[in-house]
Amino acid sequence: MSKTTILVTGGAGFIGSNYIRWLLEADPAVSVINLDALTYAGNLENLAGLENHPRYGFLRGDICDGSKLDAQLPARPDEIVHFAAESHVDRSIEDPSAFLRTNVLGTQAILDLGRRLKVRRMVHVSTDEVYGSLGPKDAAFTESHSLRPNSPYAASKASSDLLARAAFKTHHFPVVITRCSNNYGPYQFPEKLIPLMIANALEGKSLPVYGDGKNVRDWIHVQDHARAVDLVRTRGQDGEVYNIGGRSERENIEVVSIILRSLGKPDSLIRYVQDRPGHDRRYAIDDTKIHAQLGFVPAVSFEEGLKATVRWYQDHRTWWERVRSGDYQAYYARMYGGRLSSS
Ligand code: NAD
Ligand code: DAU
Repeated sequence: MSKTTILVTGGAGFIGSNYIRWLLEADPAVSVINLDALTYAGNLENLAGLENHPRYGFLRGDICDGSKLDAQLPARPDEIVHFAAESHVDRSIEDPSAFLRTNVLGTQAILDLGRRLKVRRMVHVSTDEVYGSLGPKDAAFTESHSLRPNSPYAASKASSDLLARAAFKTHHFPVVITRCSNNYGPYQFPEKLIPLMIANALEGKSLPVYGDGKNVRDWIHVQDHARAVDLVRTRGQDGEVYNIGGRSERENIEVVSIILRSLGKPDSLIRYVQDRPGHDRRYAIDDTKIHAQLGFVPAVSFEEGLKATVRWYQDHRTWWERVRSGDYQAYYARMYGGRLSSS
C-alpha cells in the first residue's frame, strides 16, 4: 500500500480536527502532520485520544513562519490541506490585523512551503463568504460568481484564494480551492451561531439574535465537509474551484427556535440585538460542479445533524465549559510538556 503524508494546517480547530479524525479512520494509508499555532481557536482537546496514534503527529507552529517550518516538520509531506485561518467574522470587524496576517500572508507562506517541498497537491480550504451576499430570489453562488466580500474576514479569504490562483497560474503549483458554506457539528468553538446558542440555552442565558434574525445560511454537517474536502484532495483537478454546500438553507431564527425546542427551553430566551455591521443577508451554494464531477452529495440532513449536534453539546458539557473558562489552553502543556512536536 503506498503511503501518503499529509500536512494539515489548522488541525486543532473545528473543521481541521474533524477532518483529521475522519481521515485517519477512512484511510489507513495516510499519515497526518498537524501544524497549528494554537491560537484561541486551537484546542488539542478536539483531538484527545490521538496523541499516541502511530499515523499522527502534532507540530506547534505558525503558518506565517515560512522557511523556518521546513526544518521543523517531522517528515516531508506529500500533500497539504490548508485549514489554518482566523475564521470569525465578528472578530474581523473588531480588528482585521490577525486576519490579514494569517489568512493572506500565512496562505502565501504555505503556498511557498508547498512549492519548496514540491508537494503533489494542496487543497486551500476557503469559504462561500468570498462571493458576498444574495437577495432572497437570487440564484445560488456558482464557482464563476464574482468575488464581492463584505467583511474583513471574507476579504482576507478572497485574497488568499487569489494568491492560490496566482500560484497555479504563475508556477503551475498544484493547488485546488474549495468554497464551503456554514459548518456545524462537534468541537465548534462556542462563538459561532449554533454552539453559542446551544451553550447559552443550556446555561439559561439569553440567545443574542442579530438584526431581524432572517439572514439565511446554508448549513452543512462538518463530516460532510470533511468528506468533500477529501474527494477534492484525491480526485479534484489542479487550478479548479469547487463549491461545497449542505443543501439546507435556513433563517437564523429558525435554527435558534429548533435548538430551543430540542432542549425544551422557552422562546423567551431569544434576545434580538443590534445587527452585525455589513451583515450578509443570504448565502446559497450551487453544488452542481462537485456533484457532477466528484459525485459529492451531503449525507447528513440538517434536522438529523442538528439533533445530533445538540446532543453532543449536552453530552460534552465539560468540553465547552473548559473552552469558555479558558482551561482548555492548559491541555497542550500537560499533554506535550511544551515540546514542539509529538512525533
Ligand atoms: P477555527 O477558527 O475553528 O480553527 C482555525 C485553526 O487555525 C485553529 O486551530 C487555530 O489555532 C489555527 N490557526 C490560526 N492561525 C494560525 C496560524 N497563524 N498558524 C497556524 N495555525 C493557525 O476555524 P474553522 O471553523 O475550523 O475553519 C477552518 C477553515 O475552514 C478556515 O480556513 C475557514 O475559513 C474555512 N471555512 C470555515 C467554515 C465554517 O463554517 N466554520 C465554512 C467554510 C470555510
Ligand atoms: O459561510 C461560511 C462561513 O460561515 C465561514 O467562512 C466562517 O468561518 C464561519 O464563521 C461562518 O460565518 P458566519 O458569519 O455565517 O457564521 P456565524 O456563526 O458567526 O453566524 C451565522 C449567522 O448567525 C450570521 O447570520 C450571524 C448570526 N449570528 C451569529 C452570532 C455569533 C447571530 O444572530 N448571533 C450571534 O451571536
